[in-house]
Amino acid sequence: MFLVTGATGNVGAELVRALAESGERVRAVSRSGRSEGLPAGVEAVAGDLNRPETVRAALDGVRGLFLMPGYGGQRQILADARTAGVRRVVLLSGLSAGTGDRDNAVAGYLLDAEDAVRDSGLAWTFVHPTSFMTNALRLADQIRDGDTVRVPFPDARTTDIDPYDIAQVALRALLSDEFAGRVLEVTGPEALLPADRVRIRGAALGRELRAVGLEHEETRAEMGAAGVPKPYVDAFFGFFVDGTLDESVVLPTVELVTGRAPRTFARWARDHMDAFR
Ligand SMILES: NC(=O)c1ccc[n+]([C@@H]2O[C@H](COP(=O)([O-])OP(=O)(O)OC[C@H]3O[C@@H](n4cnc5c(N)ncnc54)[C@H](OP(=O)(O)O)[C@@H]3O)[C@@H](O)[C@H]2O)c1
Repeated sequence: MFLVTGATGNVGAELVRALAESGERVRAVSRSGRSEGLPAGVEAVAGDLNRPETVRAALDGVRGLFLMPGYGGQRQILADARTAGVRRVVLLSGLSAGTGDRDNAVAGYLLDAEDAVRDSGLAWTFVHPTSFMTNALRLADQIRDGDTVRVPFPDARTTDIDPYDIAQVALRALLSDEFAGRVLEVTGPEALLPADRVRIRGAALGRELRAVGLEHEETRAEMGAAGVPKPYVDAFFGFFVDGTLDESVVLPTVELVTGRAPRTFARWARDHMDAFR
């Protein structure tokens, strides 16, 4: 039995599907405990990662745990996992953890999660993805409304990854001992600017979309208005404006681990066309 947290999210839902397709039994944890869209036979469980007592029973009989980072209950959940006999944990972390910069709020919470996992005594694998292709969904309203799309951080060239590929890597790390004690840095197959991704999305939709870069102060204001706390706004400015994180390098990890090249953004855009219509 495998326990997948964040099971209704971008990565978790793909991982639940991948495990089920591999013939594994899966328990899918989210706060809602939502079961719609999950493959037949998957057990949907309601649990809150900030309240470990709500997750404890779901650890019964579990062999491998896929853990989302940054929740208040993570240390207790890991201790409970050890007690329950869990053998392996795969943590969803991020490329920025590789900077080791605890003063950056995003890298900091990922590093705290990694510390908790290391301290748990469980066999672990950390997955360090670049930015997710699904972040493009944040522009969906603009794309539905017109052909000009305002994009933050217009000069940040990044190797965004399809959460499908993150899940494929996590699947291998859950199913075998081969990746124990390893940090797997995973990227998509190409480095693109935000304007490139807007153009590719346009092509998928049969439209000529045009990106206009936001001034940094506009981006700051919009992130603040969207409720992103200031330390996190600062963290993203650190990555994409001050250049503390280089997400522009394509890495071979997905292909090495899965035997298959990671999916392109054009493929992702075709798969998610309905979200932009
Ligand atoms: N986006 C990026 O570019 C990027 C890059 C690198 C790393 N990451 C990391 O990836 C993570 C997000 O992954 P994602 O995009 O797959 O997730 P997501 O789509 O945002 O979904 C979050 C999932 O977690 C569940 N959840 C939220 N709060 C919870 C709680 N308190 N207890 C239990 N479950 C909870 C949600 O379901 P309910 O709401 O029903 O609980 C949902 O299933 C973040 O930690 C981020 O640091 C993201």
